Amino acid sequence: MTAGPIIIGSERSEAGLPAGIALLRQGASALDAVEAALRLCEDNLDDHYVGTGGLPNARGEVELDASLMVGSTRAFGAVGAVRNYPHPISIARAVLEKLPQHCLLVGEGAELFAQEQGFEPAMLLTDEAWHLFREALQPSSDAVEGEKTLAAPGDDVYRLAAIELVNRFRPHEGPWGTINVLALDESGEMVVGVSTSGYPWKYPGRVGDSALPGTGNYCDLRYGGAACTGRGEMSMRVTGARLVVDGLARGEDPNEACRTMLADASTLRDDFKAELRTLCLTPDGRHGAAATQSGATYNVMTSSSTAVEVFERVVL
Ligand code: GLY
Repeated sequence: MTAGPIIIGSERSEAGLPAGIALLRQGASALDAVEAALRLCEDNLDDHYVGTGGLPNARGEVELDASLMVGSTRAFGAVGAVRNYPHPISIARAVLEKLPQHCLLVGEGAELFAQEQGFEPAMLLTDEAWHLFREALQPSSDAVEGEKTLAAPGDDVYRLAAIELVNRFRPHEGPWGTINVLALDESGEMVVGVSTSGYPWKYPGRVGDSALPGTGNYCDLRYGGAACTGRGEMSMRVTGARLVVDGLARGEDPNEACRTMLADASTLRDDFKAELRTLCLTPDGRHGAAATQSGATYNVMTSSSTAVEVFERVVL
């Protein structure tokens, strides 16, 4: 008798969790459940922080990061800064399963691999995301004279404005759109998956914590799995997900382990400091999550759930 099946996820994972738990109830693997749940999140056009419809980088191109980690083996597969493929989580799975000599492919190499594996390319920038992107890049009323030409993508002034915008947009309001899904299947295997379009208006080529083991994603079946959303650079600097799992290994309860990580991240000096959130799941099915802002939530579905159950995250 194991603690599974259970699947948990960050804000907006509700687009995928019902499909994930349905698979787990049929005896599917945690890997299948996490991939299926995240593919649905990547297809959610109302979510502008993941998959198709994600907000683009400073050059107007959507670049996606995603990763999967398996608890029993600590096998890791990930892609970073992938353009033109709508399901980066599935390319991450292909890296995990078909390219075991590597963990992470980025940019052109990841796109070459996706093509080689037969994934279908698609246009990721929706009209709505493009509109949001252009609207946000309109010069503000106090813009300097030269910035009036900012609408044309690609030139140096545009890039500088994008950098200025990243500054202006901090701290980001509302939860970040990166999506974490963690599942424990009937056999007792655990998988953690993360998918994101990353920080909007980011420098082209920027890869965040979602694609990196130990930072946005970590899973060790001895202790549990964890994942992060929010300002990836902070999670990268403290190795956020690994810190949470280290807390579980020390015997901290799930909420406490999440809080311990955020407490460490809060000590960092960062001019772009913004919300960082984390959640975790243990091999015996306990879960917890933390945020620095109050009112943040996460989602849970178990074998007996009739709908997505929403839990409050503890606050640092
Ligand atoms: N945590 C997602 C990112 O920073 O891209």
